[in-house]
Amino acid sequence: MATVLSLSGSPSPTSRTARLLRHLDARLAERGHTVLPLDARDLPAEALLGADFGHPAIVGARELFERADAVVVGTPVYKAAYSGLLKALLDVLPQHALAGKTVLPLATGGSTSHVLAIDYALRPVLSSMGAAHIVQGWFVLDRDLAAGPDGSLVIGEEAAQGLAQVLDQFATAVEAPRVRAAEVATGRRRARTVREAAREAPRDTPREASREALREATAPVPRPFRP
Ligand SMILES: Cc1cc2nc3c(=O)[nH]c(=O)nc-3n(C[C@H](O)[C@H](O)[C@H](O)COP(=O)(O)O)c2cc1C
Repeated sequence: MATVLSLSGSPSPTSRTARLLRHLDARLAERGHTVLPLDARDLPAEALLGADFGHPAIVGARELFERADAVVVGTPVYKAAYSGLLKALLDVLPQHALAGKTVLPLATGGSTSHVLAIDYALRPVLSSMGAAHIVQGWFVLDRDLAAGPDGSLVIGEEAAQGLAQVLDQFATAVEAPRVRAAEVATGRRRARTVREAAREAPRDTPREASREALREATAPVPRPFRP
């Protein structure tokens, strides 16, 4: 399965965005993905603001991007755009740090006035960094993210439905090339087995061998279970 970097761009110590991402991380892990959580606020401010590309923490963040097949980018909306902290981190990454990766953009905000911030502000930046596929993003109002009595995240019903949908689209996009590769590999293995069976068949029964080969080659390929 895939390795997914889950990046929160909020500077807040009680960030709703970060809590939302950690909640979604668990959903991705349930689907078998390895999740690498990263809070931009944990990186040293002086390294980010001083563009210290060689700082070990920045090098570490860069390596997380390199390891990831896909990235979830979550940001609070600040002044009608993504956070400055997120931009400071993206600025110390290589220009094509998202090359070949599938990306899910998410935002939280206080007002629906800026629901399009993902599309007019964040998406172009992700695209300029080489993202191979930016799936549909989602904006969640901060009032739809509350803490339950046990401290767990409680998401408003409508927001939860939208999130579940975009997360499923993202996970499916991430999984699709792997399912295809597995099918191709299985097909190749099958073809090899068929050739071997035909070679090993007694000389006087070529017809049976090729019938058997045909049966094997056309049997349905077992597909991974996807709920
Ligand atoms: C400095 C600042 C600027 C904000 N600007 C906006 C804004 O322009 N539009 C909006 O919808 N919400 C705005 N908000 C509200 C936040 O986007 C919202 O509360 C968000 O969920 C905070 O996420 P966080 O807890 O992860 O930091 C702003 C909040 C702050 C602190």
